[in-house]
Amino acid sequence: MTTLTIRTPDDWHLHFRDGDMLTETVPATARCFQRAIVMPNLAPPVVNATLAMAYKERILAARPAGSTFEPLMTLYLTNATTGQDIIDAKAVGVVAAKLYPAGATTNSSAAVTDLEAMYPIFDVMAEQGMLLLVHGEVTDHHIDIFDREKVFIDQKMSKIVAAFPHLKVVFEHITTSDAAHFVNDASDNVAATITPQHLLLNRNDLLVGGVRPHNFCLPVLKRNTHQAVLRQMVQSGSPKFFLGTDSAPHAKEAKENACGCAGCYSAWSAIELYAHVFEELGALDKLEGFASDHGADFYGLPRNEGTITLMRQEWTLPEEIILPDGRPIVPFFAGQQVSWKLQN
Ligand code: DOR
Ligand code: ZN
Repeated sequence: MTTLTIRTPDDWHLHFRDGDMLTETVPATARCFQRAIVMPNLAPPVVNATLAMAYKERILAARPAGSTFEPLMTLYLTNATTGQDIIDAKAVGVVAAKLYPAGATTNSSAAVTDLEAMYPIFDVMAEQGMLLLVHGEVTDHHIDIFDREKVFIDQKMSKIVAAFPHLKVVFEHITTSDAAHFVNDASDNVAATITPQHLLLNRNDLLVGGVRPHNFCLPVLKRNTHQAVLRQMVQSGSPKFFLGTDSAPHAKEAKENACGCAGCYSAWSAIELYAHVFEELGALDKLEGFASDHGADFYGLPRNEGTITLMRQEWTLPEEIILPDGRPIVPFFAGQQVSWKLQN
């Protein structure tokens, strides 16, 4: 096969950041995705309808000329979120709210400290048809970082899902066989996004032969047996799993640092990297469902009408990209070869 045409895909989990960074990140995503679920972990975070709409306008202003790309906005849940915040956000088109356990990741210090106290908010979300997007890791210091997703399932996620059967829940960027099986076995109201890095890499790619900060993201890469189960799940074509890159740019100096930031900037190669994985799995026929159908169906949004075409062509990702403020950033998979390329 030398070309592959699929329905235009969407990215169901993405970090655009803000300010002049948008002139880098928005075109990078709009080059192949029609829509993206925009994460709200700005500093300060996007906690209400007014902030979400203002952020949406800044994103729209950064689109390349002629682009019809559509940002789908989300709310950042805090201890202070009210039911009215949810109702107001839904009324202006916000589609989902993001639950970060406080301290779990980048800009999450303002987030939720007591998950059970959020239950009245989850009730309103279920009533309003607003999705709950979950960063599924506990943050307790005594829990090993490699176990934090599994412990979150056992202590928190299983309870949320049981208590709110009508709430649509996306378990974001899953990394373990535990999460994959949990989602697979759960009701149709529970689904998961999977990133390119968690399909392509395992913790050896982070730690063997030296620490590789550009492969550091959260939840952290896990052992290869977990990676294998994530790959099986996408290979199965199950509608419970869909594309969410978690593309999360940090300048090179912030990644190559004594306390390096978590996040892989994958927007420049996202759909190509997924194609690379699906080809390795002998499952290119499943790429369209994963990238273009399952997410829209789960969110209750129409599937896109257009198509994109990928060509079988070896190309090498740049070692660096220069951000609008002049700082370099190292894209995910920098300097490595990918065998599919989006046709422009
Ligand atoms: O690696 C990550 N980076 N994981 C997250 O959950 C957040 C993200 C970011 O915002 O940098
Ligand atoms: Zn994220």
